[in-house]
Amino acid sequence: MSTINALDHEKNARWAAVDDYVWTSLYSTPTPLLSSLSAALDHQHASGLPDIAVSRLQGAFLAQQTALQNRKHVLEVGTLGGYSTIWLASAAPKVQVVTVDIEAKHTEVARHSVTQAGFAERVEFITAPGVEALSKLRDEVKAGKRERFDFVFIDADKAGSADYVNLSLDMVVPGACIIVDNVVRRGRTADAEVAKTDVNVAGSRKVIEAVGRNPRLEASVLQTVGEKNYDGMLICRVVD
Ligand code: DHB
Ligand code: MG
Repeated sequence: MSTINALDHEKNARWAAVDDYVWTSLYSTPTPLLSSLSAALDHQHASGLPDIAVSRLQGAFLAQQTALQNRKHVLEVGTLGGYSTIWLASAAPKVQVVTVDIEAKHTEVARHSVTQAGFAERVEFITAPGVEALSKLRDEVKAGKRERFDFVFIDADKAGSADYVNLSLDMVVPGACIIVDNVVRRGRTADAEVAKTDVNVAGSRKVIEAVGRNPRLEASVLQTVGEKNYDGMLICRVVD
């Protein structure tokens, strides 16, 4: 296979225009949730956090999946400014979210936005490195001190994604859904050569291949374009 030129897959005006068109068509009625989501992005930006939250329609997709699957106990790895956290919590009044981030600043920004959105009582924030946080959560689940999770959204450091899937597998219910963000990386994930020098591509290949080898998981990858770069999500179902 020839080497993929990342510049072929940078942000694209038409993809962004379609996201704008669809978003304004589907979400034209103002609601408190939409105001809170918009405010969360503003607060994240004003706080100097990176502009790498899920897109508006990807957020809507996560909430829709959580609702369609009738989920109740959500684990999010990678809080950032709480934008996806708010979407996940919005899926249904019974949804409880535990969200983990290594950066105290992220937790602080997200806590503010989640509180403004009215979800503070249904969101638990943990500030710690992913493996440390998930190991502790797993121990608490195994000790019966905490409910098993039924929906997991992994959107943190890409090198850690495979570890986060593995740790999640020890604390989910049978039939749980595990989604890993950003596994396509402008198509660069298909290039084994790129993985030698790009830790994010290496991490994405590692998690896809590990999921492929794991008999407890069935999965697919949905490639996505839109207002963000060409990327994609790994969507897994825990078979047992
Ligand atoms: C990156 C991380 C993300 O979570 C994302 O959605 C897009 C890009 C990154 O680190 O490059
Ligand atoms: Mg992401």
